[in-house]
Amino acid sequence: MAQSQFHLGWFLGNSYGVHGWLDQWGGGTARNWSDPSLQIDLARAIDRACFDFVLLEDSSFVPDNYGSSMDFYLKRASRAPKNDPLPLVPLMLQATKHVGIVPTISTSFYPPFLLARLMATLDLMSEGRVGCNFVTSTAERAAQNFGLTEHIEHHTRYEMADEFVEVVKQLWDSWEADAVVADEAGQMFADPGKVQPINFEGKFFSSRGPLNTARPAQGHPVLVQAGGSPQGRAFASKHMDVVMAAVSTVEEMKKFREDIRARAAANGRDPDSCKVVYQFLPIVAETDSQAQEILAARQAAKDPADILAAMGSIFDIDFSIYDLDAPLAELTTNGQQGTFQRFMAMGNTLREIADSFHFALDEVAGSPDTVAAQMQEMMEEAGGDGFLIAGDLNRRYVAEITDGLVPALQKRGLVRTGFSKTQFRENLLEF
Ligand SMILES: Cc1cc2nc3c(=O)[nH]c(=O)nc-3n(C[C@H](O)[C@H](O)[C@H](O)COP(=O)(O)O)c2cc1C
Repeated sequence: MAQSQFHLGWFLGNSYGVHGWLDQWGGGTARNWSDPSLQIDLARAIDRACFDFVLLEDSSFVPDNYGSSMDFYLKRASRAPKNDPLPLVPLMLQATKHVGIVPTISTSFYPPFLLARLMATLDLMSEGRVGCNFVTSTAERAAQNFGLTEHIEHHTRYEMADEFVEVVKQLWDSWEADAVVADEAGQMFADPGKVQPINFEGKFFSSRGPLNTARPAQGHPVLVQAGGSPQGRAFASKHMDVVMAAVSTVEEMKKFREDIRARAAANGRDPDSCKVVYQFLPIVAETDSQAQEILAARQAAKDPADILAAMGSIFDIDFSIYDLDAPLAELTTNGQQGTFQRFMAMGNTLREIADSFHFALDEVAGSPDTVAAQMQEMMEEAGGDGFLIAGDLNRRYVAEITDGLVPALQKRGLVRTGFSKTQFRENLLEF
């Protein structure tokens, strides 16, 4: 079957943090890491290349897992320092015309009323171009920053997330779409009959409402989530417009998508209203052989400590205390569970795991047309609604994607060449 069009998103990991400060093409970020122009330039470039959205990752702690110390992370600018990404949203909106902007918020720590109001404001301000990535947050240290002694248990976090989204949706609905009449002759700005309290009383949250701003331009801003555990998938398939999958093979892509679609249908939803996008880190160069050389060099330079420190910070585990070559003990986590299962299944020792684990699809390398052809094949085989480009942020890589790969995809008719609609969700639902 011929592949229909798919969507493109950009996953901006470490969004308003430090990007490539030691890289040859980093653009002076060692000195200018807080200058938002790098992120604004990304937004402009992907807007021009007709991406549907950019997702701004976030976290709120300084890890101290590896070696039971912050040293590893602070020395490498890994997860800290990291500015709050919310102020990037209006800057990115102002620099662009179509691309949806999706900040991340934690359902475990953010008050639902504040979030509902913040997203309503951004959606009204942009006339319908924002979404929200709902995360439950995985780290004990993050929980302690918000006054807890230990983090909430994984399944309870998802129970809370479910209720969080419920109350936020009700707050957005507390103003009817036509509540603002701005009737100068009748001297009535908002119609009191169309604004109601919600009186939400839940197990974890309560809110009287109504919201003190009007209904968002899209009704509900676009809802986005990524969670690989059964609880994460249940949450995603119940509420979300976009589900992001971290998978590393075509088989996993297919399985993940089938599972989300079946769950969405079981929740009484049209599965096509729940878009599944795969995190994807392609290497694009002038020729296939150049791209393959870059991939080989990257693989040769892999240091197990990097991957173990990074993964340890999302599982809350200090992997430095284990012998790299000894059979690994049974471990458990209260952190990210979907990824943890995939990680632990990669081998018997930490070295085997670190050598063979891929967080996402990161082994595709070639000229723009070769990568485009592989993306087409992967989609034909697995099905899916789009790719979430997640490579390191520098202007050279952005150009390789937006000015090299995207035109090759467009030539094949695989991605859009323009927008016929103005709002983010309308664009997502176009195909
Ligand atoms: C593509 C992708 C993006 C994510 N972005 C964030 C993020 O910005 N902040 C965060 O705390 N967690 C983030 N996560 C983690 C998830 O939202 C979720 O909390 C995690 O996968 C745990 O889910 P699980 O236990 O259901 O597997 C992301 C995960 C993926 C796959």
